[in-house]
Amino acid sequence: MGDVRDSVAATPGQTGILFPKEPRTFGSGGSAGGGVNRVEAEIVDCEVEGILPADLDGTFFRVGPDPQYPKPPQFAHDIDFDGEGHASMFRIKDGHVDFRSRFVRTQRWKAQRAARRSLFGMYRNPMTDDPSVAGLSRGTANTQVFFHHGKLLAFKEDSPPVVLDPTTLETIDDYYTFGGALQGETYTAHPKIDSETGDLIGFGYEAKGLASDDVEVLSVDPQGKANWHTWIKLPYACMLHDFAVTQQHIAFLTIPLVPDLERMKAGGVHFSWDDSVPSYLGVLRRGDDGANIRWFPGPALMCTHTMGAWSEGDVIHVDMDGAEVNQFPFFPVRGAQHADEGMAPGQIRRFTVDLADTTANSFKTEVLFPDVMGVLARQDDRYHTLPYRYGFMLAFGATGPCWTMVDHHTGEKSVYAPPPGSVPSEMCFVPRSKDAPEGDGYLIGIVTRKMEGGRSDLVLVDTRDLAAGPVATIKLPCRIVGQVHGFWVPGDSLPD
Ligand SMILES: [Fe+2]
Repeated sequence: MGDVRDSVAATPGQTGILFPKEPRTFGSGGSAGGGVNRVEAEIVDCEVEGILPADLDGTFFRVGPDPQYPKPPQFAHDIDFDGEGHASMFRIKDGHVDFRSRFVRTQRWKAQRAARRSLFGMYRNPMTDDPSVAGLSRGTANTQVFFHHGKLLAFKEDSPPVVLDPTTLETIDDYYTFGGALQGETYTAHPKIDSETGDLIGFGYEAKGLASDDVEVLSVDPQGKANWHTWIKLPYACMLHDFAVTQQHIAFLTIPLVPDLERMKAGGVHFSWDDSVPSYLGVLRRGDDGANIRWFPGPALMCTHTMGAWSEGDVIHVDMDGAEVNQFPFFPVRGAQHADEGMAPGQIRRFTVDLADTTANSFKTEVLFPDVMGVLARQDDRYHTLPYRYGFMLAFGATGPCWTMVDHHTGEKSVYAPPPGSVPSEMCFVPRSKDAPEGDGYLIGIVTRKMEGGRSDLVLVDTRDLAAGPVATIKLPCRIVGQVHGFWVPGDSLPD
């Protein structure tokens, strides 16, 4: 006789709850291969193997989806990223590391906690929700965290940010609108901090409701006060997961993942892949009215993350990771019933537009480092908006996933490849010191030990010699929630 977990998903009326063994059968299978974590943890003084730099002072924040409850069986084909946001932090100071994790107390989490069951249906499909949650935010805050104007902001691109306490991770505000400046219903998980002014520039797409083609742009100063706000109309409604900000411009790349109302009405997920539409690169001068954005069409490309972007006069350059195919095959082709499996890695693609050329009617694009295949492009975050030299990717090397650093000036690349059975998450760059040159410091991120029950380590690798492996490994005694993105905050920015 088989295990009851093989086939049963939790249903109202069942005694207690039970997650099926197969993550795909309860919807929102969690993170990092379907993990269900659910444990809020605290460890004062984690074990450290190796040498932690004595002057390293800051906090590595991260967040990812963690199912709070199994979904009913009709949502079995939901995507892996609809679990509730579970944030964690590693506070590193004076050679010690303290770890803490907390679910984000979103409106959704609180409603489900009170009901003791899942109340929200398919990914970004409010038509599948329990009627009792009408009017509540569907946001999970499970994608990225940023620290700005004294607030730790947790993001999910279908809803406004949630404010967390940067010391305790307790939820302070479950629907943050920058003091009313954010007028729409959404805010990106990938805002940018202007390296010169400290402004936080972000946007929301589908900002005027489900499948709307309206984008809201909001810039706030280092005190959180709005200093630029405008609206943009897209050529077509689509996923805008990331964007680019330079000193002079902002830019959006439209991708052929489009909101599909027919699929949603049938109880499916939010997006379908439709490569009958081209991609457009839209460029707007910062501070300008959104009506003045210029759209440049080009081949259909799916790019998800911005590595870096800068302007030289009227010429803008945007580097993103992306592919010519659907990188999120868990969103099916329009009209298809079911999704494909597996994620397609991308390449580093540079987009260039000369705004002074009034006859320009398309964007130019080229692949950089053709042998580097990967996802989740990052840079030294101090170079957001500026010309930059170094980029980082979670790449797929000869021995499996690895962290790759590319040098745009020399064309060289270096790699940290964990040992077999160890799977790295996205990494984050940590400067060696406040004024360290670009790219001089450490890559920090979680490595999951598959041979040890998925136990998690936080590793620190020196960018001067990635191949040498970790200078320090912060060892956890257990598995922790898988992450989507992470963010490093220097100690002198944090409250005491
Ligand atoms: Fe992202």
